[in-house]
Amino acid sequence: MDSNVRPQDMKRIDNIELANQFIDEQIKIVRKQVGDKKVLLALSGGVDSSVVAALLVKAVGKQLVCVHVNHGLMRKGESQQVIDVFQNQLGANLIYVDATDRFLDKLAGVDNPEQKRKIIGGEFIRVFEEEARKLEGIAFLAQGTIYPDIIESDGVKAHHNVGGLPEDMQFELCEPVKLLYKDEVRVVGKALGLPDDMVYRQPFPGPGLGVRCLGAITRDRLDALREADEILREEFDKNGLAGKVWQYFIAVPDIKSVGVKDGKRYEGWPAIIRAVNTIDAMSATIEEIPYTLLHKITDRITHEVDGINRVLYDLTPKPIGTIEWE
Ligand code: XMP
Repeated sequence: MDSNVRPQDMKRIDNIELANQFIDEQIKIVRKQVGDKKVLLALSGGVDSSVVAALLVKAVGKQLVCVHVNHGLMRKGESQQVIDVFQNQLGANLIYVDATDRFLDKLAGVDNPEQKRKIIGGEFIRVFEEEARKLEGIAFLAQGTIYPDIIESDGVKAHHNVGGLPEDMQFELCEPVKLLYKDEVRVVGKALGLPDDMVYRQPFPGPGLGVRCLGAITRDRLDALREADEILREEFDKNGLAGKVWQYFIAVPDIKSVGVKDGKRYEGWPAIIRAVNTIDAMSATIEEIPYTLLHKITDRITHEVDGINRVLYDLTPKPIGTIEWE
């Protein structure tokens, strides 16, 4: 039987009992596969890699070595949450690498979106490889591959998976959730005790805020984007939209307009709100954010975020606009 094909009689994991059954089965399979060897995992903090990490901590404990690369393009507080949950709460073996300067230095002056993606993906592999080379006895590479990654080869997930490691670093793969759909991965994550804001996290592109700080990334505009994004997320949380809207974020273009602050001329960037609903990300509709909330968000962003002097609301569905701006 092809191990990459979901058996027809496999039940959809939609409750805690089925999730626990799956976890017990996988623990046995992983222990048998791994033996006393070590497993390496790139832990981004996204749903899939987080669930794999929690599952493998249960199965092989300290034989799992997680590497979290902070590329400086994470949302506010995300890397800290990875450390809190995995190192502090689950006791995982976690290597945290703050590679912010490396990524931002490489990206300086680069405005082409595909070039930016290539640099981020390539640098990620290099940082991960350097960390892997410092370790001894690694025989397996764990990945948060899920079933749609196998059946849809659209490459969207390519950044997450650490394909592209050099020839002399080929490990045997350990992919315990590769036959699960996203909703099942979340149920398993919940059963493993991961926090809700990790399990029900909205999709976040591998290149992170890098494709939302439009054009050539600068640290000041990236900081402004991160702060504005945090305000949007807080307000969506407080107003019951966080669990309802499929994906929402801020993009900040590299243009300035004139404004007035404290009676003085104040030039700043616009923050663009994007909030979309979709089933499969192939097409998307716009969430109708109530006007009162839009005013609140605008007020907070323009007063609390240095460098932003306008807030715009993107009403473009997909098609014709893609979900991300670049
Ligand atoms: P678009 O912008 O193509 O996005 O409508 C569809 C979904 O894919 C995500 N996306 C990415 N994910 N690397 C990723 O891992 C990328 O380069 C990338 N670009 C877009 C996007 O956030 C949306 O969920």
